[in-house]
Amino acid sequence: ERYRDLKDGDKMNPSAEQEAWEDHQIRKATLKFGSKNKKLPENYGFVFEDQIECIQGQVIGGEHVDDEAYQEEHEKSKAKSAHKKLLADRKTLPVYSYRESLLKAVEDHQVIIIVGETGSGKTTQIPQYLHEAGYTKRGMIGCTQPRRVAAMSVAARVSQEMGVKLGHEVGYSIRFEDCTSDKTVLKYMTDGMLLREFLSEPNLKSYSVVMVDEAHERTLTTDILFSLVKDVARHRPDLKLLISSATLDAEKFRHYFGSDMIFEIPGRQFPVEINYTKAPEVDYLDAAIVTALQIHVTQPPGDGDILVFLTGQEEIETAEEILKHRTRRLGSKIAELILCPIYANLPTEIQAKIFLPTPVGARKVVLATNIAETSLTIDGIKYVIDPGYVKLKSYNPRTGMESLHVTPISKASANQRAGRSGRTGPGKCFRLYTAYNYSSDLDDSTVPEIKRTNLANVVLCLKSLGIPDLLNFDFMDRPPDEALLKALELLYALGALNKHGELTRVGRKMAEFPLDPMLSKMIVASDKYRCSDEIISIAAMLSTGSSIFYRPKDKRVHADDARSNFHMGNVGDHIALLKVYNSWKDTNFSTQWCYENYVQVRSMKRARDIRDQLKGLLERVEIELTSNPDDLEAIKKAIASGYFPHSAKLQMYGSYRSVKHPQTVVHIHPSSGLAQVLPRWVIYHELVETSKGYMRQVSEIKPEWLVEIAPHYYQLKDVEDLASKKMPRGRGRAELRSVKPTTVLMRG
Ligand code: CDP
Ligand code: MG
Repeated sequence: ERYRDLKDGDKMNPSAEQEAWEDHQIRKATLKFGSKNKKLPENYGFVFEDQIECIQGQVIGGEHVDDEAYQEEHEKSKAKSAHKKLLADRKTLPVYSYRESLLKAVEDHQVIIIVGETGSGKTTQIPQYLHEAGYTKRGMIGCTQPRRVAAMSVAARVSQEMGVKLGHEVGYSIRFEDCTSDKTVLKYMTDGMLLREFLSEPNLKSYSVVMVDEAHERTLTTDILFSLVKDVARHRPDLKLLISSATLDAEKFRHYFGSDMIFEIPGRQFPVEINYTKAPEVDYLDAAIVTALQIHVTQPPGDGDILVFLTGQEEIETAEEILKHRTRRLGSKIAELILCPIYANLPTEIQAKIFLPTPVGARKVVLATNIAETSLTIDGIKYVIDPGYVKLKSYNPRTGMESLHVTPISKASANQRAGRSGRTGPGKCFRLYTAYNYSSDLDDSTVPEIKRTNLANVVLCLKSLGIPDLLNFDFMDRPPDEALLKALELLYALGALNKHGELTRVGRKMAEFPLDPMLSKMIVASDKYRCSDEIISIAAMLSTGSSIFYRPKDKRVHADDARSNFHMGNVGDHIALLKVYNSWKDTNFSTQWCYENYVQVRSMKRARDIRDQLKGLLERVEIELTSNPDDLEAIKKAIASGYFPHSAKLQMYGSYRSVKHPQTVVHIHPSSGLAQVLPRWVIYHELVETSKGYMRQVSEIKPEWLVEIAPHYYQLKDVEDLASKKMPRGRGRAELRSVKPTTVLMRG
């Protein structure tokens, strides 16, 4: 309600204003549970009690504390049902009837392939069964997830079921966030974290069971894990290995792991009616919104919830805004519609919300990325709206360039998505593409990530695990040789590998950082330029995973003004990020300061956490923390030491060409502080492909730095300023002329 007041132009101090804005998402759901429908839903105890309390604490505040009826009901339902209900629910999951035979199978076999429909209870139940059967007496049970949100939310759920505090017996570990303790016996983690654990504990001796979950997702890290855990299992007969998944080619997995056990958990799937559009949709986002509203208006509200698959945070926020606007216009003419966004970087407090049962008389619309395809099960979904797209990383091994693309999904994905609607009763799926599109345009299954991504990160990791011969590495699906070569080449150029393909001292230091090699290199290089203090702040700011600035629709001018302060002197985006961090630090990390400057408090806090960890790692690799705040050139040279492969040169009409691959045309992202400045030579942090290829986080450099910093990679003629001459002669002009070390590297 406060938010609405605000919009009506009420005078509020900036802190209340931002607080209202930031909490708005949380409030939307909880108001329904807390104030409007004072009667709590019957199965209230079913959800994460802790988190609801915490949400309600924030939202309801003093307003409802004296609302006796509410309080009483809250206490009663809390005491009465919470745990009992959870325990009862555990027994209704499909996997429950297979508990004994599953335990028997684990006893008899070392490696088991488990296949079961999404929602059958694999992730939450199987580790608990093994714990109950005593496996945790010998070590932890580790369960990997490709997505951090899934690791966190599943751990929260399981700790609830076990009646323990999250972080005690049940914990999770994701990058930059370790929520485990000495007590932890069930550990949910991202696949990347288990991969990093190999560095310190190559035989995984603190684990008695490793469950590689969501195996069908075939993320790059999961694929690498396959090979590593398979190898550990050979040396450790006492280690149990579970490979679990929704649908997968079980035979292929069985063959790869040399397992003789495929354990199938038959799902409960109700029929799903599939609907296609008659003609392809021009604007799938709008079509999705219209479809959702149509369902909501024409179907009885108690009927079931809606799940919409979108491609990312931005799209989800747009959809949220439009839906909010349109439902508000319809006012009381329609039943209540509760909007639940879910995407990778969604703040923890809001994540719990999507699992809250829908109150009587209302309907939930879950706006989700692919995370809801198999990683998370949301009960009560009856309608699925599938625009048919997903955001995928794509990689051009020829140029070594990586970018994010919105791409059509595969048939396997489409069917998984449709299946989400038939879990609790017959469902309906609305595909926003034609039946012809489905049958003739969609691939059968998604290409494993290992075949379409930059491998530099894992190659560095494998090299530091002491795996020298990548050509003979036991991949389930081999990555293209070209991509392996590119990764080796990049690591060589960054100085992480020598020309024999062996890890260098620099490479060893880089591998300590849980970051992309270019980012790690930038940190390691900061030692030379005596600015490690500044560089870890920049690295942390680049790693928050969410935007730093916030730009409310009705305050754009103010927000942009505030932002431009940090860009004063056209210092570039990296230095601007540093300025933001330092200014915040100077105010003793003041929240008020964030409000006044339209900076996201949450992102800043995360940056501070990450920075603290990077600082710890600096110590570990014996890099002194040195500050050199006024020498912007030194700071930018340190950045360029990692990012020199991402250099671009201005062309006519404001576009840029990659220096190394002149055939690649890119642009400065409109959100960059340099978007109007258009410096001649720039480096960028990442490339995002939407309508065009956009460079995000851009800094100006001097071309001669490229040769100075990366003489293996650039030659003088690559960086000659041909401004006065004609356009570059295109293709191949800047190709590497020095002897390619790659043949040696491959053998190494
Ligand atoms: O792994 P699988 O897809 O087989 O199922 P699961 O994740 O173990 O989920 C089993 C049930 O737990 C789901 O049907 C949800 O009702 C519930 N669950 C939940 O309420 N909250 C979570 N964060 C995860 C699961
Ligand atoms: Mg699961």
